[in-house]
Amino acid sequence: MITQKSVQEILETVKVEEIIQDYVSLKRRGVNMIGLCPFHSEKTPSFIVSPAKNIFKCFGCGQSGDAVKFLMEHEQLTFPEALQHIARKYNIEIEETAPSPEAMAQQQAEESLFILNEYAKNYYADQLFNTDLGKGVGLSYFKSRGFREATIKKFGLGFAPEGKDAFTAKAVSEGFQIETLRNVGLTSKYDRDFFRNRVMFTIHNLSGKVIGFGGRILQKDIKAPKYINTPETEIYNKSKVLYGIFFAKQSIRKNDECILVEGYTDVISLHQAGIENVVASSGTSLTKDQIRLIKRYTPNVKIIYDGDMAGVKAALRGLDLLLEQDLNVKVVTLPEGEDPDSYLQSVGASAFQTYIDQQAKDFILFKTDLLLKDIGNDPVKKTHVIKDIVSSIGLIPDPIKRSIYIKECARLVDVEEQLLINESNKILAKQVTQQRNEEAKHTVWKEEGEALAKHLEQPLSPQQEATPKVIGDEFQEKAVVRILILFAGETFDKEEKLTVAEFILSGLEDMISVIDNKRYKSIFEDSIKSLLDGKKITTAYFTQHDDPEIRQMALDFSISPYEYSENWEKMHDIILTTQPMPEQNFNRETIETLKRFRLRKIQRMLDKVDQKIRALQEKDMNDPKIIVQIRLKTKLKQMHLELSKEVGMFGSTGRL
Ligand code: CTP
Ligand code: MN
Repeated sequence: MITQKSVQEILETVKVEEIIQDYVSLKRRGVNMIGLCPFHSEKTPSFIVSPAKNIFKCFGCGQSGDAVKFLMEHEQLTFPEALQHIARKYNIEIEETAPSPEAMAQQQAEESLFILNEYAKNYYADQLFNTDLGKGVGLSYFKSRGFREATIKKFGLGFAPEGKDAFTAKAVSEGFQIETLRNVGLTSKYDRDFFRNRVMFTIHNLSGKVIGFGGRILQKDIKAPKYINTPETEIYNKSKVLYGIFFAKQSIRKNDECILVEGYTDVISLHQAGIENVVASSGTSLTKDQIRLIKRYTPNVKIIYDGDMAGVKAALRGLDLLLEQDLNVKVVTLPEGEDPDSYLQSVGASAFQTYIDQQAKDFILFKTDLLLKDIGNDPVKKTHVIKDIVSSIGLIPDPIKRSIYIKECARLVDVEEQLLINESNKILAKQVTQQRNEEAKHTVWKEEGEALAKHLEQPLSPQQEATPKVIGDEFQEKAVVRILILFAGETFDKEEKLTVAEFILSGLEDMISVIDNKRYKSIFEDSIKSLLDGKKITTAYFTQHDDPEIRQMALDFSISPYEYSENWEKMHDIILTTQPMPEQNFNRETIETLKRFRLRKIQRMLDKVDQKIRALQEKDMNDPKIIVQIRLKTKLKQMHLELSKEVGMFGSTGRL
């Protein structure tokens, strides 16, 4: 157990932004810092860090807390682990009372793996620099590849000698348990060294601890794999690791781009040439975990492929995962036969940089181009290509990006845009049914986060504050008026003896103040008043109203009782639940229409609250009114979420 005194000291020392910046790229925004929330998927930042208050909060998903909470959530650490993490970072000595034996065993087991790996790294380095064989074979090899000594040391390169158990014997003689050696993958179950007669590459985790190794064979004639890597262990999970991430993370954040290459040597070469925002997936196709790792730092990925067209084609499918995760993917291909390392060594750093800047192509367009080269005049092949491309485009979560790609690809493939849209809609429809609920939640949150971020990005002028932007709720309002007028006197609920008018009017009473259209507003106000006066509200009440404007409106609605056009539905998310005769199903339509109306209004209120929070924050971060507004916001958000689930669509704008 960590003593109370130590806990205190840690909490007093830690700076939340310094912790979070190890994982999230933050930008200054006034007294606060802002970035993309690591806890939910978003494109526009709604994740706010307040150095003054030493807390973070995401206005998108609601996650909030201090540095410890951040680490616990983000790194899946326990409370004491998070404290230890901080203590290490700030060189704070932790005072502990005796821990439980199990906890101690568990922690020691893991810690001992790291210690052993660190030991092994030093051992291999020592072999490389201080033994004849290491120097003659390993070091000269690295040097022949152009690696400078500082680079070799920085990346922890080394040499594993030939003997069957040279390393294992040495480690055991220095007190390491054979079990531990096996557990960390350095020793086989027959007590042999796992890495023998290979040059060694150290693999670090995000925080720079040694989790494993890759070993490259130097002899050309031997029928052993060129590289072998540490097998899966408690601390090394290949699919979660990106080689070089520890050395690259700062630079990735600074450049707002991650360069992805295939090999260890590519990473090292580029790094040495001053291109430091580079990592490798180590020969396998990217996994979700690896992509998430990148996303913590940037949404932009540039992949440099070895110059091997067959290989590139094979790799394309793997990239869909990047699109799905909403990353912006660019692709660079190198001249045939080159890999980033070899090409860099042959043309030099600045020519290399120019090349990758100029050759970078958008992934989708690159893929389209590449596939098109193969089809000649074959219409069947063309259909396949179209399907293939569209299926990639369909994975892009952002509808605007999607439509831009569709346009561009239609041009490249030379087909009607509509054809691609239809294809892509089919794919979307499939996904939609799969992810409905999950997405509903996300989009609602995402949009809110985006709304907030927008406010934060553009400081509001006083006029803007006074006149909230009109989002065009009139269509939802009109839909409600229409139902009210047409079905006012119908029985909505037999048992409750409730009419449609009573149902609707009681359902929007609390929202009268945020109705945009003055005429609709006056109809609602008028009929609520009449209802309270005990008058019967029926269609006739409106068609025979004293107010000529209301009369006219009522007549208009009843003369063309069914005047939705398809465009309405598309443009303003009024979903026609009842086709073709709404009179036969006014109950359901009433409920749906009112829900949509309310959803829309709640969104509006949320926008207003956001504006308010922003305005308050600008004046004084510590204003207690901010808390009140945030509470209100939480409440509204809850209502919004519940409603949008019920309505069964994706957030208030209803787009896919
Ligand atoms: N790799 C592996 N196992 C293999 C071959 C490759 O794990 N048998 C991984 C390594 O991480 C390697 C990467 O895939 O770095 C790319 O492979 P390759 O292009 O063959 O190697 P390079 O990194 O280019 O190495 P070198 O230039 O020394 O040949
Ligand atoms: Mn290579």
